[in-house]
Amino acid sequence: MPYATRDLRGTVIAITGATSGIGRSVAQQAVELGAKVAIGARNAERLAQVAADLGAENAVAVPMDVRLPEDNRALIAAAVQTFGKLDSVVPNAGIGMYGSILDHDDDEITRMMHTNYDGTVWTVRAAVPELLANPEGGDIVIVSSVAGLRGGGDEAVYAGTKFAQVGLAGSLDRELREKGIRVTAVCPAGVGTEFAVGTGRVANDPRFADWLTPDDVAHAVITTLLQPRSVRTTVWAMWSMGQQS
Ligand SMILES: NC(=O)c1ccc[n+]([C@@H]2O[C@H](COP(=O)([O-])OP(=O)(O)OC[C@H]3O[C@@H](n4cnc5c(N)ncnc54)[C@H](OP(=O)(O)O)[C@@H]3O)[C@@H](O)[C@H]2O)c1
Repeated sequence: MPYATRDLRGTVIAITGATSGIGRSVAQQAVELGAKVAIGARNAERLAQVAADLGAENAVAVPMDVRLPEDNRALIAAAVQTFGKLDSVVPNAGIGMYGSILDHDDDEITRMMHTNYDGTVWTVRAAVPELLANPEGGDIVIVSSVAGLRGGGDEAVYAGTKFAQVGLAGSLDRELREKGIRVTAVCPAGVGTEFAVGTGRVANDPRFADWLTPDDVAHAVITTLLQPRSVRTTVWAMWSMGQQS
């Protein structure tokens, strides 16, 4: 008999950072498998376009800034009000700037720490009550980075925020597993997205040809959701075949 994966039809997934890159691809792949999505990001116009592309019956768009706890609560509330429940949350919104700790200005450092780490905490904290209320259990899939497993030269502050996400995920796994919530940190190497364009990368950076695609990473996120509920993946590190590990 073929291995029985979960059926995502009718499940409800909240995704931050869904206007581009990995987050948008997670939303697309989830809807293709019959899920409903609540999507958040700051650019309201782009977000509305992503939602329209996904179909009004499949997606609710909530312009939001992950740095604000109340915006995260609004995203989760919209998921539950629109689709009746929450099954999974994907804290994915993030920003990155390359440079030594002395190169960044104060604002860049604050923005990276508040968006990548604080933002993840606020998204998770808003979602957990609804995941606990779901009799089927729930999933938290945090999009971190291989920089959060081993660090990286010239990106110390960014890597620190990604380590913090991995630490949060591992600790939440210990806190929430027995309550039916699975927690995963998906940790990709470089992905060809808008991330860090202008702050260490250029649009259509020639390195992208050898790197992971947003669809590769989204598929890892979706695969963790598809695993039967008797199984959990806590850390998923991934590289393209062209990238050195
Ligand atoms: N690309 C890579 O090489 C790579 C590698 C490893 C891990 N990652 C991680 O993957 C995640 C997604 O990045 P990506 O590569 O898909 O980059 P991306 O294409 O730039 O997407 C980032 C998303 O985050 C949103 N966002 C940024 N700041 C936000 C805020 N304060 N509040 C709400 N949304 C915000 C952006 O939308 P708005 O601008 O509309 O808000 C956008 O939708 C990040 O956590 C990143 O650290 C990326």
